[in-house]
Amino acid sequence: MIQSSRIEIKSPKEIQRMSAAGKLLRAVFLELEKAIQPGITTGELDQLARRLIEDAGAIPAFLGYQGYPATLCTSVNEEIVHGIPGRRVLRMGDIVAIDCGLILGGFYADSAYTYPVGDVTPVAARLIEVTRCALNAGINEMRPDNRLGTLSAAIQKVVEDAGFSVVREYTGHGIGRALHEPPQVLNFGTPGTGLRLRPGMVFAIEPMVNVGTWKTRVLDDDWTVVTADGSLSAHFEHTVAVTENGPLVLTA
Ligand code: MF3
Ligand code: CO
Repeated sequence: MIQSSRIEIKSPKEIQRMSAAGKLLRAVFLELEKAIQPGITTGELDQLARRLIEDAGAIPAFLGYQGYPATLCTSVNEEIVHGIPGRRVLRMGDIVAIDCGLILGGFYADSAYTYPVGDVTPVAARLIEVTRCALNAGINEMRPDNRLGTLSAAIQKVVEDAGFSVVREYTGHGIGRALHEPPQVLNFGTPGTGLRLRPGMVFAIEPMVNVGTWKTRVLDDDWTVVTADGSLSAHFEHTVAVTENGPLVLTA
């Protein structure tokens, strides 16, 4: 397939450097996770993340990207992605998707988790679990000679078997010295089709899952993406390399 020639292959040394970026990002998430409590604002979480990243000698990847104003995306409840941190107070029962990217040693790492704030409804808890499982199903297909469509279909199956829907209009992506590299990594697809995976390919896989319709809408701030029907949404993301031995999750 022609597209495969445009996909960058990272050397083992480059993957090592991406792994250093990924490990730092994981450490940032462990701190954020501790701070997520009813009463904290999304802006306070953003400040914490920025400080942790900069103190470690890294650079927030989203800040200034196409004019984006923050270090984190904080997407609450029916917000899917690209929620802008600010004065919003997290309340008991909310779910908050936190997306963060950083640059260390010239390489990007990109990851997202959805957290319950205190106790949440059973459907919210199940949505979070299903989205985490969907990401894991995709990661599991990051093997040499596998097709990209097989990975996409694996994500879609977990989501739809659970009765939820997978967002179509936003996708995962290749990642390396740029935040977004080819290919697009769709969260739905046909097994056995598309790009053939090779050792050294590195993708950010990021399923976005809605309780209701997969359709989306963008708010007046021109960033925040919400579900068209107001239903809850969750998002998980890891930066993952294909190796001879199978998937290597760089942000774990
Ligand atoms: N994880 C998202 C992505 O890779 C976050 C991008 S937010 C932006 O597309 F602000 F940088 F656009
Ligand atoms: Co991403």
